[in-house]
Order: sequence, then structure tokens, then C-alpha cells
Amino acid sequence: MKFFLDTANLEDLRKGAALGIIDGVTTNPSLIAREGIAIEEQIRRICDIIDGDISAEVVTTKAKEMIEEGRRLAKVHQNVVVKVPLIPEGIMAVSALSQEGIRTNVTLCFSAAQALIAAKAGAYIVSPFIGRLDDLGYNGMELIRDIVKIYANYGYKTQVLAASVRGTLHIVDAAKAGAHIATMPFKVLEQLFKHPLTDKGLEQFLQDHNKAFELAHA
Ligand code: E4P
Repeated sequence: MKFFLDTANLEDLRKGAALGIIDGVTTNPSLIAREGIAIEEQIRRICDIIDGDISAEVVTTKAKEMIEEGRRLAKVHQNVVVKVPLIPEGIMAVSALSQEGIRTNVTLCFSAAQALIAAKAGAYIVSPFIGRLDDLGYNGMELIRDIVKIYANYGYKTQVLAASVRGTLHIVDAAKAGAHIATMPFKVLEQLFKHPLTDKGLEQFLQDHNKAFELAHA
């Protein structure tokens, strides 16, 4: 499973990159706005930190404009994946961009029917939002399972990216369901490391080592 960071914050991205386990980054207009830097400049900076797929989202809603915006974003860096919302005009843009060899991430996916449309349009990635579905009382993970199954039935190459992730269980369940990618805020990445027995075991090992070492040199 590929791990992406779901942030446009450079400090978090540098911390993530240092771990050596980050395969890409997802951003959206809200995450870019939080950093207060124009999208093309911020995406350029992100591409300097993480060597992997970097999703940059369009902010127009007409196919023609989305295609132009997508082309512009794709020119920022070869690793850019153009993120497009799952609306009819967006799907027209995805079909056109895919035919030009520009990779797309179809975002705001909340149903298996929508995911089927994204795959048919040639999307490189589809992003079902599991947390936002859970928030409304639906089962976000069921959607991941359905999309993985449907894509396997027809051999679609579109990668399933578990988005809107809220915690460790989402990551583990998405991996069990066969999602190709999980994108997560930095705080969720930190949570993945945590286990009380790891901390307790390490403390004991170091105590035993130090005691023996101190005794040997007493
Ligand atoms: C990533 O591609 C999505 O934009 C992001 O995961 C949405 O997450 P949220 O529901 O926490 O805003």
C-alpha cells in the first residue's frame, strides 16, 4: 500500500520525507488555502520535498477551464497528478486530460457508481472520502471494498485512494480491503507508530542494557 500525506504544509512534509516511507502527497483547495501560498508555487515546493505523485486540484467547474488549468498544473512538475471533482464537466476534463497523457485524480467520490464513471474516463486515481461518509452515518469502508471489487471485475487500472482518513483503523481496514493508496494527515501517520508495548519493551531493553553495562564497568 502506498502512503500519501494529505497536507500542503511543508514542515509536515519534511518530517514525513525523513521517515522514508511517503510515496506521494494529496492537496485540495482548502489545504492550499491554509498555507496562504499560490497553488503553483506551493506545489513546486512540495515536489522538491517528496519524490512521488503530487495531487494538485483544479478550482474551476467548466470542462474547458478545468482542462486548461489541468494542463497548467501538469507543467509545474512531471510528478503532478491533476485532481478533478466528480461532476459531469469534471469527467469531460478527465477524459480529455487522460487522452493527452496527463494523469488525473478524481476526487469527491462518494459512491461506487461514481467510481465506475471515473475509471471509464481513464482516471489514474479515484478518491473515495471515507471519513466524510462515516460522519454522515454511512459505511465509508464498504465503499472502498465495493470499488476494489468492481475494478478487479473489469481489470480497470485506476488506483483506489482511501481519502478523508481519520485514524489508524481506517488505514488498516483500507489496506485489508485492497486500497492501493491511503492518504493521511501527518497526525494519523504519527498514530500508526504507536503501541504501548513498543514503548514499554524499549524502556525495559534499555534499562537492562544500561544496568549490565554500568555493572560491567563499575
Ligand atoms: C484528499 O484527497 C482529500 O481532499 C482529503 O482526504 C479530504 O479529507 P477531509 O475529509 O478530512 O477534509
